[in-house]
Amino acid sequence: MKGFKRFLITSALPYANGPLHIGHLAGVYVPSDIYTRYLRAKGKDVISICGSDEHGVPITLKARNEGVSPQDIVDKYHLMNKNSFKKFGIDFDIYARTSAKIHHETASQFFKTLYDNGDFIEQETEQYYDNEASQFLADRYITGTCPHCGNENAYGDQCENCGTSLNPTDLINPRSTISGNKPVLKKTKHWYLPLDKHVPFLKKWILEEHKNWKANVYGQCKSWLDMGLQPRAVSRDLDWGIPLPIENTKGKVMYVWFDAPIGYISATRELTDDWEKYWKDPDTKMVHFIGKDNIVFHCIFFPSMLKAEGSYILPDNVPANEFLNLEGEKISTSRNWAVWLHEYLVEFSGKQDVLRYVLTANAPETKDNDFTWKDFQSRNNNELVAILGNFINRALVLTQKYFNGIVPELSELTDFDKETLEEIPKLKKKVENSLENFRFREAQKIVMDVARLGNKYLADTEPWKIIKTDKTRVGTIINISLQITANLSILLEPFLPFTVEKIKKYVNFTKWNWEMIGQKDLLPPGHKMNQPSLLFEKIEDKTIEKQVNKLLQTRKISENTTEIMEQKDIISFDDFTKVDIRTATILEAEKVPKTTNLLKLKINTGVGERILVAGIAGHFDPDEIIGKQILIVLNLKPRKIRGIESQGMILMAETGEGKLTFVSPTEKIPDGCTVK
Ligand code: MF3
Ligand code: ZN
Repeated sequence: MKGFKRFLITSALPYANGPLHIGHLAGVYVPSDIYTRYLRAKGKDVISICGSDEHGVPITLKARNEGVSPQDIVDKYHLMNKNSFKKFGIDFDIYARTSAKIHHETASQFFKTLYDNGDFIEQETEQYYDNEASQFLADRYITGTCPHCGNENAYGDQCENCGTSLNPTDLINPRSTISGNKPVLKKTKHWYLPLDKHVPFLKKWILEEHKNWKANVYGQCKSWLDMGLQPRAVSRDLDWGIPLPIENTKGKVMYVWFDAPIGYISATRELTDDWEKYWKDPDTKMVHFIGKDNIVFHCIFFPSMLKAEGSYILPDNVPANEFLNLEGEKISTSRNWAVWLHEYLVEFSGKQDVLRYVLTANAPETKDNDFTWKDFQSRNNNELVAILGNFINRALVLTQKYFNGIVPELSELTDFDKETLEEIPKLKKKVENSLENFRFREAQKIVMDVARLGNKYLADTEPWKIIKTDKTRVGTIINISLQITANLSILLEPFLPFTVEKIKKYVNFTKWNWEMIGQKDLLPPGHKMNQPSLLFEKIEDKTIEKQVNKLLQTRKISENTTEIMEQKDIISFDDFTKVDIRTATILEAEKVPKTTNLLKLKINTGVGERILVAGIAGHFDPDEIIGKQILIVLNLKPRKIRGIESQGMILMAETGEGKLTFVSPTEKIPDGCTVK
């Protein structure tokens, strides 16, 4: 860690084409946040950069599927994803967007420089074209069999199975993703970055000078470099993206993987006028946090661009992670096999640190790993509650009980006291070593050892047994327990920031930094603390079963491919606007006596409370839906159902198999808002 004056931490810019899930957090954003928080705690000059990747085929495909414009898609998901990161405490200095003007300018300038230097090859070739869609097929518009690993669903620019970067013409048995048709060949002109020319530089830079990179990253790079590289097109025939800054190239834009990594530069420019020192001074350590499917772009493609441009530094490390699976299966957005962050935030409100903890404990650092709800529960109950929460709670509660919340004096230390305290600086060194080598699960485990140390200390000294006879000794024991608590808090901050905020409130003290770890006076005698409450709570079987059932239902739906109803008769726009749909919240719910399926609900509609009868008792317990925000038809003519007047109707979605689910706003908004 010595020798660098400042740090530039980048995290892969997620495509703004959908919500984020636990795989994103585990692979990229939790590790990058831990690393950044650690450097900040050490007082380093560090900035953490991220933002939305808003160009490219993932965006236009999603827009096409949903029948809306690409701009609609990126506006929606940019906000949503930015918000999810914030709520999980992923503390970027900026969350930018590649549709921003400053990014278009920066990328255009970069492209122009390479173009003017003669760093591109200009070539007219035959490329795949979809006659039905009147469109050239590049990147994710075309799929086929990977010539390297045989994966039948490789994309036109990359096989996500083996990570190799591809050209559409490399694919065996290519098909258009738009129409499913076999594409035809058609002439078009493009600009190429001759990666083959950069091989000698890349071999020296990676294979000789960066042998310290993670084995999975180094190994992939080596195999590509040994295989030899091909020129890669940096332009596309598309109408969504950054127009080429070259005369007479209408209808052509930059390849998304050309402009997106430049997003790191433009985000830094947007953040600070001092951006150049982060990008051009070799005393800056740049680290790219990414998932394994991004390795080729961050280790081969972007460095070649930076090298060709000539004035930028290169990354010092690219600690790419492998993938996280969910309950034994690959996470899949299209099959809805995922734990979505925006849903977790509602269903496990206030438990962001629990997920951060579990994802780090299980991080796919060296191989693909599995997230299971059972493991989530047991790590919460057996580690966060039983080890960490238990120790800190005992230390704080005993201080309240025996010393009215005032930190007692430290008197004579026993050998055991000394040994215990001496462990802390040793563990700190170990944590630092793990963090600096990107071994976050190991680091977190060592931090938990400090809590284990605290538990053992209290169990062995048993202050509750001697409080009547030797209060001075108990004072020393409590003081030491509090110093362990304080040291532990500093160590925990990169991992569990929300928990540490709570602890700081309880102990009524905030001014700690990393270099203080090991001190015995972090909470000075005489200091008055606040009443604590529990840091973590047990997660019950019932809660976990609900999540597992949700996944099982997803699996059933994707297996049965639910029966979809034909479109109903056309209605006029006027007919539609007659329906008054509103946001509302369920205040009370109870079963209608002597019925199996009816619930009587009291609802807040924003324009008053209403009683509503709904046929959903077979699907939901009354207790679990109280407080839920839903959509209702407000102006439906009241109907008497079993003697109760139902004043409106809840909107529900129903699968072919009859599974019901609420249709709710994706975030909490006031009741009574109109839906159109
Ligand atoms: N959007 C890409 C993905 O989700 C990552 C882009 S990283 C950047 O795989 F470097 F290009 F910004
Ligand atoms: Zn492959």
